[in-house]
Amino acid sequence: MIGVFDSGIGGLTVLKELIKKMPGQDYIYLGDTAHVPYGNRSADVISKLTEQAVDFLFQQGAERVVVGCNTASAKALSMLENKYPEKIIGVIDPVTDYFSKSSYNSIGVIGTRATIGSDMYSRDINKMTPDKQVYSLATPLLVPLVEENFLSRPETESILRGYLDVLKLKKVDALILGCTHYPMMLDLIKKSMGVDCHVPNPAVIVAEAVATSWSLGSAGKLEGSRRYMVTDLTDNVQEIANRFLGHDINLEKVTL
Ligand code: DGL
Repeated sequence: MIGVFDSGIGGLTVLKELIKKMPGQDYIYLGDTAHVPYGNRSADVISKLTEQAVDFLFQQGAERVVVGCNTASAKALSMLENKYPEKIIGVIDPVTDYFSKSSYNSIGVIGTRATIGSDMYSRDINKMTPDKQVYSLATPLLVPLVEENFLSRPETESILRGYLDVLKLKKVDALILGCTHYPMMLDLIKKSMGVDCHVPNPAVIVAEAVATSWSLGSAGKLEGSRRYMVTDLTDNVQEIANRFLGHDINLEKVTL
């Protein structure tokens, strides 16, 4: 069974692509909705919350865990890799690998304050490919807009324009969505950046890397089991989760 963790519902973007890629696997999802957003918290608190959530997924029977949250991957991955060797994959390494090998030379990155402050995307890309220009931008208002279901509101488009115009001025030829919530607004982001900027869904890149790194396939089944858990359950969270996955799911409220 594969565990997927996020601070909220953004990790569903990763889970959705994992299910598409490996439908026969069993999945267990945990969103720490009682503490979202993590992105403006200190490294110490992010690390503690993440460890507690990942421990819980292992206790619930997960054999491996995908940390489907950039903020948690930036701040807690090395600690988790030491605690659970070979059993943890974060969302940053697969994406920095992909972009280092790509032909894009001018790359924008958006994410939470914690993720951008960690500088992991630009540092890792430039470690592998020093010639690439990486421009990082913290976009802290975007997670609440997703969590509050504001995607079809005009305010969301103007906030996006306000943020992304800075990167458009740099003429980036690709944009990294360094937060697992952002693929939920992929079309809006693409529209804001214009046709000359490539904006891949990072969840697809992560799902590919998970299948390859752990040599996972369909596990001999057509469809595995799914369990969805959150630490705080509201109608809003339920509605966004159902809408994003395209079907109604049973979200369980759990206490860690
Ligand atoms: N999905 C998380 C990430 O990828 C959300 C951030 C948050 O909790 O602030 O960073």
